Amino acid sequence: MTDAKPLLATLKGERQAVPPAWFMRQAGRYLPEYRQLRAEKGGFLDLVKDSDAAAEVTLQPIRRFGFDGAILFSDILVIPMALGQELWFEAGEGPRLAPKMVTSEIIEGLQYDPAVLEPIYGTIRRVKAALDPRVTFLGFAGSPWTIATYMIAGQGSREQAEARRLAYTDPALMTVLIDRIVDSTVDYLLAQIEAGVEAVQLFDSWAGSLSPAQFERWVIAPTARIVAALREKTPQVPIIGFPKGAGGKLAAYAAQTGVDAIGLDETVDPSWADANLPRDLPVQGNLDPLVLIAGGDALLTAIDTIKTAFAGRPHVFNLGHGIQKDTPIERVEAALARIRGDAA
Ligand code: CP3
Repeated sequence: MTDAKPLLATLKGERQAVPPAWFMRQAGRYLPEYRQLRAEKGGFLDLVKDSDAAAEVTLQPIRRFGFDGAILFSDILVIPMALGQELWFEAGEGPRLAPKMVTSEIIEGLQYDPAVLEPIYGTIRRVKAALDPRVTFLGFAGSPWTIATYMIAGQGSREQAEARRLAYTDPALMTVLIDRIVDSTVDYLLAQIEAGVEAVQLFDSWAGSLSPAQFERWVIAPTARIVAALREKTPQVPIIGFPKGAGGKLAAYAAQTGVDAIGLDETVDPSWADANLPRDLPVQGNLDPLVLIAGGDALLTAIDTIKTAFAGRPHVFNLGHGIQKDTPIERVEAALARIRGDAA
């Protein structure tokens, strides 16, 4: 089974003898050429806002490793920025957002300014013009729940306690915030597609922190609305949902959101996923980013286990979460050789 774009074909439901592969966070700090460009440009957000630089960073891992997918170089937190929150990165700590979304006055005052996102569409047009036609171009956004956790806490938070508390104490206000994020995310993803991406991924990094009823309300329902809105306008563009940590709620997520493919984190047993997710649903994942660092037999065995479990369905090989910055380049090469090596 050959196809001009094996990753795109897989997301549309075609099983491949060799799974196409890309790695979450494949453009980034483990690459010396990325670190050099970032140092020249100032910082991470300066790169994101510079279309030429961001296009170059998007293409770096494709050139070096020949991945089957190129993911737009940007960040999920540009949506809070477009809604008027200030965003910056504290060295060694991570993202900061101000003001925190904690009162109805602040949340209701959010105004979506699509012009803030223009440089990102410039990045997409540049990548599109330069990309090998064999490679699938992926856009992305954060899912409303994960975006809301950052907007409310003003930073990353281990248990997402502030957002979970607001969701219980003032669900009406939480709804206002989630709705603003849904609407701006639909606009943003449609504009990404218009500029040239061929599939999109919704990152829900903190889906795992919610109880079942809250998961349905704040993860499944808003995701389903985004999927429905995109499906209506751009039915040809596959949507990958990545509800990290969803565990036993993955089957409900797959059935009720309508996503075209589902991303699995490294805690999911591939044979469980294969048995419990619909036969024809493409899955993506789920190598542990830490075994990629460790290498050796542990890495080869983990890759073989995942490939074998998903051999009977459409499968996109990926990590279970983002590649870590201390990952040796040779490990990525070794992993890709193993993924591609023993074709059925
Ligand atoms: O996958 C890719 O290569 C595409 C680009 C991408 C980035 N972030 C680049 C980035 C994507 C898809 C993201 C998603 C993202 N960003 C998520 C969801 C996925 C996940 O990892 O759970 C989240 C929660 C964020 C928010 C964010 N941005 C965090 C927590 C951080 C780390 C801060 C730090 O200093 O460690 C970022 C920064 C970020 N986003 C970097 C990159 C390459 C590192 C920036 C740098 O220091 O150069």
